[in-house]
Amino acid sequence: MTIIPIEFGTPEYEESVALRYEVLRKPLGLEFSVEQLAAEWSDTHLAGFDENAKIVAILILTPAGDHQVKMRQVAIDPTLQGKGLGAQLVKASEVLAQKNHFQRMVLHARETAVPFYLKLGYEVVGGQFEEVGIPHFKMEKSLS
Ligand SMILES: CC(C)(COP(=O)(O)OP(=O)(O)OC[C@H]1O[C@@H](n2cnc3c(N)ncnc32)[C@H](O)[C@@H]1OP(=O)(O)O)[C@@H](O)C(=O)NCCC(=O)NCCS
Repeated sequence: MTIIPIEFGTPEYEESVALRYEVLRKPLGLEFSVEQLAAEWSDTHLAGFDENAKIVAILILTPAGDHQVKMRQVAIDPTLQGKGLGAQLVKASEVLAQKNHFQRMVLHARETAVPFYLKLGYEVVGGQFEEVGIPHFKMEKSLS
């Protein structure tokens, strides 16, 4: 998998939104609103491409103040989950965040994904809360 940032508003961005919809929204019966997508123009969209230049992995990094960056919308092609792509993409995002002088990665993990982030060195901070109608936990990792 080749991992590179993609630009908001490009055909690659539209392809990444389609993957995020399939993996993260459709199973919950939800859609992205125009406002939600419009707010992403200044985020970093990090995509993983397969050998046919198809996007198979995506995540978003959003600056969260105080040298923190928030990882969100982590989605791997359903046919390729469990093969190490998620771990590869998250690690690449940490390297990128470090290069951009962020000191801490923060995220809201779905309860089902908590073990995945624990394996990558993230810690649960605080109790369970609800987002998009399902249980989540706040997790963090120091990048320094
Ligand atoms: C969660 C997700 C991003 C993980 O990516 P992935 O490519 O499937 O995971 P990887 O193959 O890189 O897994 C890395 C390690 O985490 C473990 N792992 C991954 N998902 C797991 C899960 N749900 N429960 C327990 N362990 C998990 C793997 O077994 C692997 O362990 P290993 O290093 O001992 O072999 C991906 O499965 C996905 O897109 N899921 C649906 C959407 C989602 O939940 N996104 C996260 C929202 S917070």
